Amino acid sequence: MNTILFVDDEQNILSFLKRLLHNEPWKLFFAGGGQEGFDILDKEEVDLVISDVQMPEMDGIVFMRQVKERYPHIVRIFMSGHADRSAVAKALSEGCAQQILSKPCNEAELKEVIHDALQQTAELKKKNTGLQKVINSLSSLSPMPETYLEIKKCLSHINTVSTECLAEIIEQDASVSAELLRWANSSFFGQMHKVDTIERALMILGMDIIEGLILSHAVFGQLSSDQQKVQGFSLKAFQTHSLACAILSKLLVTKLAHMDPKDADRAFTAGLLHDVGKLVEQRYLTEKFIVAVDAAHENKTLLVDAEYQILETTHEEIGRHLAEWWSMPSFLVNTIRWHHNPKMCKADQPVVQAVHMADVLVQKFGIGESGNFRVPIADKAYMEFFEILEEDLPSIKEAVIYYLS
Ligand SMILES: [Fe+2]
Ligand SMILES: [Fe+2]
Repeated sequence: MNTILFVDDEQNILSFLKRLLHNEPWKLFFAGGGQEGFDILDKEEVDLVISDVQMPEMDGIVFMRQVKERYPHIVRIFMSGHADRSAVAKALSEGCAQQILSKPCNEAELKEVIHDALQQTAELKKKNTGLQKVINSLSSLSPMPETYLEIKKCLSHINTVSTECLAEIIEQDASVSAELLRWANSSFFGQMHKVDTIERALMILGMDIIEGLILSHAVFGQLSSDQQKVQGFSLKAFQTHSLACAILSKLLVTKLAHMDPKDADRAFTAGLLHDVGKLVEQRYLTEKFIVAVDAAHENKTLLVDAEYQILETTHEEIGRHLAEWWSMPSFLVNTIRWHHNPKMCKADQPVVQAVHMADVLVQKFGIGESGNFRVPIADKAYMEFFEILEEDLPSIKEAVIYYLS
């Protein structure tokens, strides 16, 4: 039986929830504040925590932050009123909780969100044993690359730091600078005139893309190792797969009628990094990764299924661990974790859906390699969501190849 803990300082809300859910097959706990919540978490096996935000003694955001640190396997949901929206949005982007329920919430929405969250828990539990073993063997996992840390620090003060100043920091890293200039001059970001300064590149690409490119540059630099070649998994072809996914993910989000331009830029970064777990496997778990790639090849299966057999976990879970370890923004953590199964993720849509769709299509087009020896099937629902018809596929493929070159 699944266990849920509700935390709210308003007794009438707790009583309402108790009445509403008493017939459901869940074990329910109710706490009037953060400390009482921790007393329960210390004693009970809890699968899901749903917490209010504004509470007198321990603020809900502080509470959830600590739950995340102490019990990372527990799924966390905020229940909040309109007044807390901006603080909650910030907490969500730090990954304090996976989603948010409006207060007061209606019965159907509450039950649906709980059902989905518990399904997510079941999935996490299934893969947890294998992941734990992998994490234990990853003791040497490198810290977040310095260049990225420095630039991230600067980007967080972007309102007070000038682009000139930021450009100066970036220019100190020649390979990052070259990469940014290459993208600023690429057909994908379509400039009529040659971009030859970092300051100009910053203006053209925008801060989200810049952060994504620097992060992926650092990640690929840190994790791709040619020391031991893995037959059937070429790093170069893998990089092409990632780049093509980035390009197509952005194109897909841009096609949506009410898209947020920020989501299009996030989809680009998420596409670049969605399979980062494979780099960790290739770099740190090489022997087992070779066996998994061989098994996928022999049985013509998806790599993710072979990984699960050999490692008892997958590149999605390992990637999520790295993303959290390196404090990547939550849209990246979510895309890395759920890009094969976007329905399981309630936050950061349409970014997660776009990367999923791009990942499938890029493999269907035969662009780059991802370690799969069978092309995953494109889900009709996502094809419809992005309004893609079978006859559009050749022109989409052509566009991706054009932007890649
Ligand atoms: Fe993947
Ligand atoms: Fe992929």
